Amino acid sequence: MKPYVEPYLETERLTLRRFTAEDADLLIELDSDPAVMRYLTGGKPTPPEEIRERYLPRILAGYQKWDGKLGLLAAHLKPAHERDPGAFIGWFILRPKPEGPLDEVELGYRLRQAAWGRGYATEGSRALLDKAFTELDVRLVWADTMFVNRGSRHVMEKLGMTHVDTYFPDFDDPIEGTEHGEVRYEITAEQWFSSRPAR
Ligand SMILES: CC(C)(COP(=O)(O)OP(=O)(O)OC[C@H]1O[C@@H](n2cnc3c(N)ncnc32)[C@H](O)[C@@H]1OP(=O)(O)O)[C@@H](O)C(=O)NCCC(=O)NCCS
Repeated sequence: MKPYVEPYLETERLTLRRFTAEDADLLIELDSDPAVMRYLTGGKPTPPEEIRERYLPRILAGYQKWDGKLGLLAAHLKPAHERDPGAFIGWFILRPKPEGPLDEVELGYRLRQAAWGRGYATEGSRALLDKAFTELDVRLVWADTMFVNRGSRHVMEKLGMTHVDTYFPDFDDPIEGTEHGEVRYEITAEQWFSSRPAR
């Protein structure tokens, strides 16, 4: 039996928790779907050994580094709301730059295809923004995606984030859509507090 992991955050339909050393298979399965990886690698799966040997150890090291407050978070469906309670639907991330200040963090998300189009990315991200700005003293959240990743851009727009930059990184092995560039969206604590409904 897997060890119980205390939730990091709960939303109406999702529980977010920290990953454990037992979770490699969840990440391997998520990254094995070409549709999930389309705008990340052009559809290539992440090699399982890379997940086991580098990716997962780095995730766990991040919890140590940021005192469990930031990092990659596994998302599961809550029992009361779904046909497949407890199912792993993907991950969210709140992470500073490697040597950057802790009050500027990146937001990211990667969900299994079966979970797309039901508002989960927006629901999880909104709760993370709220936690970042109200509990973690974060000042700025940014998110990057390929311009052509319209679903991801749409999530950022629904969160109230603003498009602040389009840039064209050099890639050795560009994927389809790279020519349209990457976009950066941002939201500050001030913008978050002025846009969200009063409690
Ligand atoms: C991007 C992603 C996280 C969106 O997750 P999701 O749970 O489906 O997102 P939501 O349902 O909260 O919102 C998506 C919105 O974009 C819209 N959308 C989705 N695909 C779209 C497309 N191709 N064109 C236009 N709009 C699109 C949806 O209709 C929805 O808007 P609505 O609520 O107004 O209908 C998910 O598709 C995913 O994990 N993709 C693979 C990994 C990835 O690309 N991650 C982002 C990398 S930066």
